[in-house]
Amino acid sequence: MELTTLRELLRGTLTESELRLLPKRFKRIGHVAILNLPKDLFHRNQEIAQRTMDFTGAKTVAINEGKIEGRFREPRLRVIAGDPNTETVHVENGCQFRLDVARVMFSPGNVHERGRVAHLVSPDEVVVDMFAGVGQFSIPIAVHARPSLVYSIEINQVAFNYLLENIRINKVGHILRPILGDCSEVAPRGVADRVIMGILHVTHRYLPLAMKVLKPEGGVIHYHETVPSRLGFKRPVERIIRAASGREVEIINQRVVKRYSPGVDHVVVDAKIGKKK
Ligand SMILES: C[S@@+](CC[C@H](N)C(=O)[O-])C[C@H]1O[C@@H](n2cnc3c(N)ncnc32)[C@H](O)[C@@H]1O
Repeated sequence: MELTTLRELLRGTLTESELRLLPKRFKRIGHVAILNLPKDLFHRNQEIAQRTMDFTGAKTVAINEGKIEGRFREPRLRVIAGDPNTETVHVENGCQFRLDVARVMFSPGNVHERGRVAHLVSPDEVVVDMFAGVGQFSIPIAVHARPSLVYSIEINQVAFNYLLENIRINKVGHILRPILGDCSEVAPRGVADRVIMGILHVTHRYLPLAMKVLKPEGGVIHYHETVPSRLGFKRPVERIIRAASGREVEIINQRVVKRYSPGVDHVVVDAKIGKKK
Protein backbone atom coordinates (compact mmCIF):
# COMPACT_ATOMS: atom_id res chain seq x y z
CA MET A 1 0.00 0.00 0.00
CA GLU A 2 1.26 3.46 -0.77
CA LEU A 3 1.56 6.25 1.74
CA THR A 4 -0.52 8.46 -0.53
CA THR A 5 -3.44 6.81 1.24
CA LEU A 6 -1.90 7.59 4.59
CA ARG A 7 -1.49 11.09 3.25
CA GLU A 8 -5.25 11.21 2.89
CA LEU A 9 -5.63 9.84 6.39
CA LEU A 10 -3.32 12.46 7.85
CA ARG A 11 -5.03 15.32 6.04
CA GLY A 12 -6.32 17.54 8.81
CA THR A 13 -3.62 16.33 11.22
CA LEU A 14 -0.54 17.40 9.25
CA THR A 15 -0.25 20.70 7.38
CA GLU A 16 -0.32 20.69 3.55
CA SER A 17 3.46 21.23 3.39
CA GLU A 18 4.06 18.40 5.90
CA LEU A 19 1.81 16.11 3.86
CA ARG A 20 3.97 16.74 0.80
CA LEU A 21 7.04 15.55 2.76
CA LEU A 22 5.52 12.13 3.48
CA PRO A 23 7.38 9.39 1.57
CA LYS A 24 5.41 7.69 -1.20
CA ARG A 25 5.93 4.14 0.02
CA PHE A 26 6.89 2.22 3.09
CA LYS A 27 8.10 -1.30 3.64
CA ARG A 28 6.03 -3.88 5.44
CA ILE A 29 7.90 -6.94 6.71
CA GLY A 30 5.76 -9.21 8.85
CA HIS A 31 4.26 -7.11 11.65
CA VAL A 32 6.75 -4.25 11.16
CA ALA A 33 6.18 -1.13 9.03
CA ILE A 34 9.40 0.67 8.10
CA LEU A 35 9.30 4.33 7.08
CA ASN A 36 11.88 6.65 5.55
CA LEU A 37 10.81 9.68 7.53
CA PRO A 38 12.41 12.99 6.55
CA LYS A 39 13.95 15.00 9.44
CA ASP A 40 11.41 17.78 8.90
CA LEU A 41 8.61 15.38 9.83
CA PHE A 42 10.30 14.03 12.91
CA HIS A 43 8.34 16.13 15.35
CA ARG A 44 5.13 14.49 14.00
CA ASN A 45 6.47 10.91 14.10
CA GLN A 46 4.10 9.67 16.82
CA GLU A 47 0.95 10.76 14.98
CA ILE A 48 2.28 9.31 11.73
CA ALA A 49 3.24 6.02 13.42
CA GLN A 50 -0.11 5.69 15.18
CA ARG A 51 -2.01 6.30 11.92
CA THR A 52 0.20 3.77 10.11
CA MET A 53 -0.62 1.12 12.72
CA ASP A 54 -4.36 1.95 12.77
CA PHE A 55 -4.54 1.91 9.02
CA THR A 56 -2.37 -1.10 8.11
CA GLY A 57 -2.62 -3.36 11.15
CA ALA A 58 1.19 -3.21 11.61
CA LYS A 59 2.13 -3.75 15.28
CA THR A 60 5.49 -1.98 15.13
CA VAL A 61 6.64 1.15 13.32
CA ALA A 62 10.36 1.66 12.74
CA ILE A 63 12.27 4.29 10.83
CA ASN A 64 15.41 3.94 8.73
CA GLU A 65 18.30 5.77 10.32
CA GLY A 66 20.79 5.25 7.54
CA LYS A 67 21.68 3.20 4.51
CA ILE A 68 22.18 -0.54 4.67
CA GLU A 69 25.95 -0.79 4.43
CA GLY A 70 28.88 -3.10 5.01
CA ARG A 71 29.62 -6.64 4.01
CA PHE A 72 26.87 -8.14 6.16
CA ARG A 73 24.28 -5.66 4.81
CA GLU A 74 22.98 -4.81 8.30
CA PRO A 75 20.02 -2.41 8.50
CA ARG A 76 19.96 0.68 10.75
CA LEU A 77 16.47 0.87 12.17
CA ARG A 78 14.88 2.49 15.23
CA VAL A 79 11.48 1.50 16.57
CA ILE A 80 9.40 4.63 17.18
CA ALA A 81 6.03 3.13 18.16
CA GLY A 82 4.25 -0.09 19.03
CA ASP A 83 5.76 -3.44 19.98
CA PRO A 84 9.56 -3.10 20.41
CA ASN A 85 10.06 -6.69 19.19
CA THR A 86 11.41 -6.59 15.62
CA GLU A 87 11.63 -10.36 15.12
CA THR A 88 8.81 -11.36 12.81
CA VAL A 89 7.56 -13.92 10.29
CA HIS A 90 7.11 -12.54 6.79
CA VAL A 91 5.10 -14.50 4.22
CA GLU A 92 6.12 -14.17 0.58
CA ASN A 93 5.51 -16.34 -2.50
CA GLY A 94 3.89 -18.94 -0.25
CA CYS A 95 7.00 -19.27 1.97
CA GLN A 96 7.62 -18.17 5.55
CA PHE A 97 10.68 -16.16 6.54
CA ARG A 98 11.54 -15.63 10.18
CA LEU A 99 13.93 -12.74 10.67
CA ASP A 100 14.76 -9.78 12.86
CA VAL A 101 14.24 -6.79 10.58
CA ALA A 102 16.56 -4.70 12.78
CA ARG A 103 19.45 -7.18 12.34
CA VAL A 104 19.27 -8.64 8.83
CA MET A 105 18.24 -7.15 5.55
CA PHE A 106 15.15 -8.16 3.61
CA SER A 107 13.98 -6.28 0.56
CA PRO A 108 10.24 -6.79 -0.11
CA GLY A 109 10.75 -4.92 -3.42
CA ASN A 110 12.44 -8.06 -4.83
CA VAL A 111 9.38 -10.28 -4.32
CA HIS A 112 8.62 -10.75 -8.05
CA GLU A 113 12.22 -11.53 -8.88
CA ARG A 114 12.32 -14.22 -6.21
CA GLY A 115 9.07 -15.77 -7.50
CA ARG A 116 10.28 -15.55 -11.10
CA VAL A 117 13.55 -17.40 -10.44
CA ALA A 118 11.83 -20.09 -8.36
CA HIS A 119 9.67 -20.93 -11.38
CA LEU A 120 12.63 -21.19 -13.78
CA VAL A 121 14.32 -24.00 -11.90
CA SER A 122 13.85 -27.59 -13.18
CA PRO A 123 13.37 -30.52 -10.80
CA ASP A 124 16.80 -32.13 -11.30
CA GLU A 125 18.95 -28.99 -11.10
CA VAL A 126 21.75 -28.19 -8.70
CA VAL A 127 21.58 -24.53 -7.63
CA VAL A 128 24.19 -22.48 -5.77
CA ASP A 129 22.86 -19.39 -3.97
CA MET A 130 26.11 -17.50 -3.31
CA PHE A 131 24.63 -14.80 -1.00
CA ALA A 132 21.72 -16.61 0.63
CA GLY A 133 20.71 -14.16 3.37
CA VAL A 134 17.81 -15.70 5.32
CA GLY A 135 16.90 -17.83 2.28
CA GLN A 136 15.10 -15.21 0.15
CA PHE A 137 15.92 -17.11 -3.10
CA SER A 138 16.85 -20.58 -1.80
CA ILE A 139 13.63 -21.25 0.14
CA PRO A 140 11.12 -20.47 -2.67
CA ILE A 141 13.28 -22.43 -5.13
CA ALA A 142 13.20 -25.45 -2.81
CA VAL A 143 9.47 -25.07 -2.07
CA HIS A 144 8.20 -24.46 -5.62
CA ALA A 145 10.72 -26.14 -7.92
CA ARG A 146 12.08 -29.02 -5.85
CA PRO A 147 15.55 -29.16 -7.46
CA SER A 148 17.90 -31.99 -6.52
CA LEU A 149 20.07 -29.73 -4.34
CA VAL A 150 20.48 -26.06 -3.38
CA TYR A 151 23.72 -24.93 -1.72
CA SER A 152 22.90 -21.79 0.32
CA ILE A 153 25.98 -19.84 1.32
CA GLU A 154 25.87 -17.04 3.89
CA ILE A 155 28.70 -15.27 5.70
CA ASN A 156 26.74 -13.47 8.45
CA GLN A 157 26.10 -15.70 11.47
CA VAL A 158 22.84 -13.89 12.38
CA ALA A 159 21.39 -14.26 8.86
CA PHE A 160 22.69 -17.85 8.73
CA ASN A 161 20.85 -18.76 11.95
CA TYR A 162 17.61 -17.44 10.43
CA LEU A 163 18.37 -19.37 7.23
CA LEU A 164 18.57 -22.57 9.32
CA GLU A 165 15.28 -21.69 11.03
CA ASN A 166 13.60 -20.95 7.68
CA ILE A 167 14.79 -24.26 6.22
CA ARG A 168 13.14 -25.93 9.22
CA ILE A 169 9.81 -24.08 9.11
CA ASN A 170 9.45 -24.49 5.34
CA LYS A 171 10.43 -28.20 5.62
CA VAL A 172 13.09 -28.13 2.90
CA GLY A 173 16.02 -29.61 4.84
CA HIS A 174 16.27 -32.49 2.35
CA ILE A 175 16.91 -30.04 -0.53
CA LEU A 176 18.89 -27.17 1.00
CA ARG A 177 22.49 -27.49 2.11
CA PRO A 178 23.33 -24.38 4.18
CA ILE A 179 27.01 -23.38 4.32
CA LEU A 180 28.32 -20.72 6.70
CA GLY A 181 31.22 -18.71 5.32
CA ASP A 182 32.62 -16.52 2.58
CA CYS A 183 31.49 -17.92 -0.77
CA SER A 184 34.95 -17.22 -2.23
CA GLU A 185 36.30 -19.82 0.19
CA VAL A 186 33.45 -22.26 0.74
CA ALA A 187 31.45 -22.37 -2.52
CA PRO A 188 31.62 -25.80 -4.16
CA ARG A 189 33.30 -25.72 -7.57
CA GLY A 190 32.04 -27.36 -10.77
CA VAL A 191 28.65 -28.41 -9.41
CA ALA A 192 25.94 -25.92 -10.44
CA ASP A 193 23.40 -25.81 -13.24
CA ARG A 194 22.35 -22.41 -11.90
CA VAL A 195 24.06 -19.76 -9.77
CA ILE A 196 22.19 -16.98 -7.97
CA MET A 197 24.23 -13.82 -7.33
CA GLY A 198 21.75 -11.89 -5.16
CA ILE A 199 23.91 -9.09 -3.81
CA LEU A 200 24.54 -5.53 -5.01
CA HIS A 201 27.56 -3.20 -5.37
CA VAL A 202 30.22 -5.94 -5.28
CA THR A 203 28.62 -8.61 -7.47
CA HIS A 204 31.05 -8.22 -10.39
CA ARG A 205 33.99 -9.18 -8.13
CA TYR A 206 32.41 -12.62 -7.71
CA LEU A 207 31.75 -13.31 -11.41
CA PRO A 208 34.99 -15.30 -11.94
CA LEU A 209 33.99 -17.44 -8.94
CA ALA A 210 30.47 -17.97 -10.35
CA MET A 211 32.07 -19.31 -13.57
CA LYS A 212 34.02 -21.85 -11.49
CA VAL A 213 30.93 -22.85 -9.48
CA LEU A 214 29.07 -23.78 -12.70
CA LYS A 215 29.42 -27.31 -14.03
CA PRO A 216 32.14 -27.67 -16.73
CA GLU A 217 29.34 -28.15 -19.29
CA GLY A 218 27.90 -24.74 -18.31
CA GLY A 219 24.67 -23.36 -16.87
CA VAL A 220 22.80 -20.19 -16.01
CA ILE A 221 23.83 -17.30 -13.77
CA HIS A 222 21.46 -14.67 -12.38
CA TYR A 223 23.63 -11.58 -12.02
CA HIS A 224 22.39 -8.57 -10.00
CA GLU A 225 23.84 -5.08 -10.20
CA THR A 226 22.92 -1.44 -9.58
CA VAL A 227 23.34 0.67 -12.72
CA PRO A 228 22.57 4.26 -13.73
CA SER A 229 19.24 3.98 -15.60
CA ARG A 230 20.65 5.74 -18.69
CA LEU A 231 23.27 2.97 -19.15
CA GLY A 232 20.71 0.13 -19.29
CA PHE A 233 22.19 -3.37 -19.30
CA LYS A 234 25.46 -2.58 -21.10
CA ARG A 235 27.85 -2.71 -18.14
CA PRO A 236 26.49 -5.91 -16.52
CA VAL A 237 26.47 -7.74 -19.85
CA GLU A 238 30.05 -6.65 -20.61
CA ARG A 239 31.19 -7.76 -17.18
CA ILE A 240 29.62 -11.21 -17.63
CA ILE A 241 31.24 -11.66 -21.05
CA ARG A 242 34.65 -10.62 -19.66
CA ALA A 243 34.40 -13.03 -16.72
CA ALA A 244 33.34 -15.89 -19.02
CA SER A 245 36.80 -15.56 -20.66
CA GLY A 246 35.96 -17.13 -23.98
CA ARG A 247 33.09 -19.39 -22.89
CA GLU A 248 29.94 -18.80 -24.93
CA VAL A 249 27.50 -16.31 -23.35
CA GLU A 250 23.83 -16.11 -24.28
CA ILE A 251 21.79 -13.39 -22.55
CA ILE A 252 18.44 -15.08 -21.99
CA ASN A 253 16.76 -12.31 -20.00
CA GLN A 254 17.46 -8.91 -18.53
CA ARG A 255 15.11 -6.88 -16.39
CA VAL A 256 14.87 -4.02 -13.93
CA VAL A 257 14.09 -5.50 -10.51
CA LYS A 258 13.32 -2.11 -8.95
CA ARG A 259 14.29 1.54 -8.84
CA TYR A 260 17.21 1.56 -6.38
CA SER A 261 17.61 5.33 -5.95
CA PRO A 262 16.88 8.33 -8.18
CA GLY A 263 18.45 7.57 -11.58
CA VAL A 264 19.79 4.19 -10.48
CA ASP A 265 18.18 0.80 -11.17
CA HIS A 266 18.66 -2.60 -9.58
CA VAL A 267 18.87 -4.91 -12.60
CA VAL A 268 19.24 -8.63 -13.10
CA VAL A 269 20.73 -10.36 -16.13
CA ASP A 270 20.16 -14.08 -16.76
CA ALA A 271 23.06 -15.42 -18.78
CA LYS A 272 23.57 -18.91 -20.15
CA ILE A 273 27.25 -19.76 -19.99
CA GLY A 274 28.60 -22.40 -22.37
CA LYS A 275 31.08 -25.25 -21.89
CA LYS A 276 34.39 -24.68 -20.18
CA LYS A 277 37.16 -24.46 -22.80
C1 LIG B 1 21.85 -8.04 0.14
S1 LIG B 1 21.66 -9.53 1.05
C2 LIG B 1 20.62 -10.34 -0.11
C3 LIG B 1 20.01 -11.63 0.28
C4 LIG B 1 19.32 -12.35 -0.90
N1 LIG B 1 20.31 -12.92 -1.79
C5 LIG B 1 18.39 -11.42 -1.66
O1 LIG B 1 18.76 -11.04 -2.80
O2 LIG B 1 17.33 -11.07 -1.19
C6 LIG B 1 23.25 -10.20 0.76
C7 LIG B 1 23.68 -11.27 1.74
O3 LIG B 1 24.97 -11.78 1.31
C8 LIG B 1 25.79 -11.99 2.45
N2 LIG B 1 27.19 -11.95 1.99
C9 LIG B 1 27.93 -10.86 1.70
N3 LIG B 1 29.17 -11.23 1.27
C10 LIG B 1 29.18 -12.59 1.27
C11 LIG B 1 30.18 -13.56 0.90
N4 LIG B 1 31.37 -13.20 0.45
N5 LIG B 1 29.86 -14.86 1.00
C12 LIG B 1 28.63 -15.25 1.45
N6 LIG B 1 27.66 -14.38 1.83
C13 LIG B 1 27.92 -13.06 1.72
C14 LIG B 1 25.39 -10.88 3.41
O4 LIG B 1 25.70 -11.21 4.73
C15 LIG B 1 23.87 -10.77 3.16
O5 LIG B 1 23.14 -11.60 4.01
